[in-house]
Amino acid sequence: MTTPDRGPRRPGGARDRRGGGSRPPRGGRPLVDPARQAAYEAVAAVQRDEAYANLVLPRILRELRLQGRDAAFATELTYGTLRTSGTLDAIIAVAADRAVSRIDPPARDALRLGAYQLLRTRVPPHAAVASTVDLVRAVTGPAVTGFANAVLRRIGVRSWDEWITEVAPDRGADPLGYLSVAYAHPPWIVRAFAEALGEPETGDLAETEALLAADNTPAPVHLCARPGRVGRDALAAEVGGEPGRYSPFAVYLPGGAPGDLPAVADGRAHVQDEGSQLVALALVEAPLDGPDRRWLDLCAGPGGKAALLGALAAERGAQVTAVEVAPHRAALVEQAVRGLPVTVEVADGREIDATGFDRVLVDAPCSGLGALRRRPEARWRRQPADLPPLTRLQRELLSAALRAVRPGGLVAYVTCSPHVVETRVTVGETVRRAPFPVEQVEARLAGVAESGPAVQLWPHRHGTDAMYLALLRRAD
Ligand SMILES: C[S@@+](CC[C@H](N)C(=O)[O-])C[C@H]1O[C@@H](n2cnc3c(N)ncnc32)[C@H](O)[C@@H]1O
Repeated sequence: MTTPDRGPRRPGGARDRRGGGSRPPRGGRPLVDPARQAAYEAVAAVQRDEAYANLVLPRILRELRLQGRDAAFATELTYGTLRTSGTLDAIIAVAADRAVSRIDPPARDALRLGAYQLLRTRVPPHAAVASTVDLVRAVTGPAVTGFANAVLRRIGVRSWDEWITEVAPDRGADPLGYLSVAYAHPPWIVRAFAEALGEPETGDLAETEALLAADNTPAPVHLCARPGRVGRDALAAEVGGEPGRYSPFAVYLPGGAPGDLPAVADGRAHVQDEGSQLVALALVEAPLDGPDRRWLDLCAGPGGKAALLGALAAERGAQVTAVEVAPHRAALVEQAVRGLPVTVEVADGREIDATGFDRVLVDAPCSGLGALRRRPEARWRRQPADLPPLTRLQRELLSAALRAVRPGGLVAYVTCSPHVVETRVTVGETVRRAPFPVEQVEARLAGVAESGPAVQLWPHRHGTDAMYLALLRRAD
């Protein structure tokens, strides 16, 4: 069974390493339906090429001209399979009586899609098995179809809950291990969430469980109605969306491709999680003595917060400097802030010379553990070893921000991760080592009840990504 990853065949066609642009065989019927083909190609590209599902899938859907229900089904299969792949693998390993690492990648990816359909969707079992066997035949050839058929039939005799009882540790003895399997998150992430929520690992972990469930629930797209360009209610009416719960600029979109909306195309609105809107607004609204004209965004790419800061700056007579180290991401910032009082600089934020800024945003590079609901593969790709270099960079960027802000000025430190080493620990250590006095001041987010020296948003409590904000004031 085990052979090197030779790259899958296109379903119904030749072997292809690119993972996109499939066509049915000339003159013949496609071997698999286009929605499953799209899902397979996206899952394979994520595994094989380390692609990102949110980037690769829209391209595949366009190439296969999938829309409406077919596109929605392909999206559900792709996102659901990637999210749950750790647990699906545990189930497949029992049903196949071998480690998943010993199954050829194309067959493994197809089996994951089949197992997901059997256990997590309403697809009738016979259709899930037959279509997956067809897919296996198309991507690996006929030799493996008997194996795939037998594995899927074994999987189909139990429900998801019954499989969890079979493959997860006992909940009473190892609650964290149980949640990790039942909600398909690596144990180290479950542990980090429990710690950030203040729940002891051996407790009942009720909030941690709610958070893990929220991570597995598809998140609506949030739009930001740019201040001065369109009102939130007018935008909601225009796009058939709903005004957001907290941010005065947020609109929740019921579905569809936001890039196709005229309001996004013409720069009146942009796609941005409501939590991101709230933290940018919190920096701008925090009380400040003295001048308030020069704002700095030290980690600006791809430019969502720079665009909101720019729109607010235009209303308040301020100017924004947006710094981004990666040139291609700086180009995205340029696009995002067109027509706004924002100057973009390609530079390492740790080395900027300019000083005297009144307000500074450090939206630090982080593990992204707060946005797992939007990035289905991220939980399995991230590793604990990613944290030490990230936290070093976070401290250096925050130190640079404290040097760049004027005495009396404000710095907002933001992450889209709730991991305490990226939040509390980074802030605490950096403040402790600062060469001048720095105080943490009250952080308030529009409409959000919680406030304090730092605020942590949560998908299961607020419906936003798990954004963290600490607000710091450099003493006069
Ligand atoms: C969390 S993202 C920022 C998101 C952005 N503020 C937005 O709202 O669209 C972090 C960004 O910091 C950039 N970055 C990483 N290291 C940097 C450095 N040393 N100086 C400046 N930017 C850096 C990354 O390339 C990435 O674009």
